[in-house]
Amino acid sequence: PPAPPNVMIIFGAGGDLTKRKLVPALYHLSNARLLPESFVMLGLDRLDMDDDGFRNLMGEQIRDHVGEVFEEDVWTKLCERLQYMKIDMLSGPDYELLCERLSRIDAERGTEGNYLFYMAIPPSLFSKVADHLGDVGLLHETEDDWRRVIIEKPFGRDLDSAIALNNHLHKNLDEDQIYRIDHYLGKETVQNIMVFRFANGFIEPLWNRHHIDHVQITVAESVGVEHRGAYYEEAGAMRDMIPNHLLVLLGFLAMEPPNSFEAHAMRDEVNKVLDAITPLTPEQVLTHAVRGQYGAGTMPNGEQVMAYRASNGVDPNSHTETFAALKLGMDNWRWAGVPFYLRTGKRLTAQYTEIAIQFKKAPTIMFQDTEVDELEPDMVVLRIQPNEGIQMSLGAKIPGPTMRIGTVNMDFCYEDYFGNKPATGYETLIYDCMKGDATLYKHADTVEKGWEIVQSVLDVWSALPPREFPNYAAGTWGPAAAGNLLREDGRLWRRIQVPKAHGR
Ligand code: BG6
Repeated sequence: PPAPPNVMIIFGAGGDLTKRKLVPALYHLSNARLLPESFVMLGLDRLDMDDDGFRNLMGEQIRDHVGEVFEEDVWTKLCERLQYMKIDMLSGPDYELLCERLSRIDAERGTEGNYLFYMAIPPSLFSKVADHLGDVGLLHETEDDWRRVIIEKPFGRDLDSAIALNNHLHKNLDEDQIYRIDHYLGKETVQNIMVFRFANGFIEPLWNRHHIDHVQITVAESVGVEHRGAYYEEAGAMRDMIPNHLLVLLGFLAMEPPNSFEAHAMRDEVNKVLDAITPLTPEQVLTHAVRGQYGAGTMPNGEQVMAYRASNGVDPNSHTETFAALKLGMDNWRWAGVPFYLRTGKRLTAQYTEIAIQFKKAPTIMFQDTEVDELEPDMVVLRIQPNEGIQMSLGAKIPGPTMRIGTVNMDFCYEDYFGNKPATGYETLIYDCMKGDATLYKHADTVEKGWEIVQSVLDVWSALPPREFPNYAAGTWGPAAAGNLLREDGRLWRRIQVPKAHGR
């Protein structure tokens, strides 16, 4: 069913996010008839424009962002619901004007006083904008209407600043009005981790320390820092990816079955996973955490790329890491003793995210001609993106007169079953927020727990003398030390074949 009538108000509507993700997501929602008839998206920014100017700006590349399913009619209908207002986000009187504008929209378009504020702005402005909205009463809900705020990471740059941000937001907003986006939660394949585990009876009994040897989570990017050098310099790979996206993957993978798919039930289980992760001691940080920075190199397609230090907005002597890997363990009955290896980085060999779950080997092997050691371990690989799917690797008899065993793959590809449905990942999230369903959003607790896990690493890294950077070439799988993380445990990173587009 369509979401209830509302106005979605985007702060920073002139920026990239609105054009590339939010408007295309509204397009897909509109096409799926999930937007209410009474709906307006009001863009706010400093630029001087009228409604038509804004519509043209949003329409410039809409065809590219929506893809081949684009239909002019759907766009025309959505376009008519886009409006624009110039605003100085730091000026109190402008918020009075915003109130007037919203009342007018409610009266003309029947949007019933339900407002979804989307902060597509730098995090340093979140609290200030929330203060102004609070001052003019725009965050005040009544029995008849709702007010919600979506914010995107970074939620602080360490534990202290994350707590400070949460405290500040709570001055104007109840926790259940705050919708913190982690766009990994919007990915179909991430949501499918739960379906894979909890809708298939044969998986769950195997999903524990008795059967699983270890887990590898790889979020590899072949891109560099693009236009975001200044942000990235302050963040680095650890802050940018691990306390948020990689821990989302880990949380879904390791959680106990929740009692329901309700927000509170899900959050409780994810939080329990994060609580169970054993904090690294300063000594362990030295052996369980790896950082790297890329130098110039050649990508697999032959493209020569420059070093991170030569990127725009980056200090030529930068010590910011563009690669981070961690070995984590969990102190609970399900996972005690099972290592979770995490790695992420920029300018790696491939743009590819997967979770590989390696099972324990058969205890003994009764076939002549095969030694236990020769067998490849059984493995389940959840391909998060691209070439989305799930692969199971198993042993099978190689046809012939002798009993030899080889590895075979059973492979499910989303595309074969569900076609290629373009989506930005924001559709579900925006629709859920309009309906008041926070299941796929992050609670203040979850954000703080994520920071707690990496804080010891950040502390040790900042206290140590800087590493010799660069320590890996663009186009490789990262620094050698990342391999040692597993080698010391007698394991190896799975050899990732750069996935080809599927299309059977
Ligand atoms: C963002 C990070 O949160 O996630 C970026 O700030 C990163 O640095 C991006 O590139 C990765 O998202 P995706 O959806 O492309 O895997």
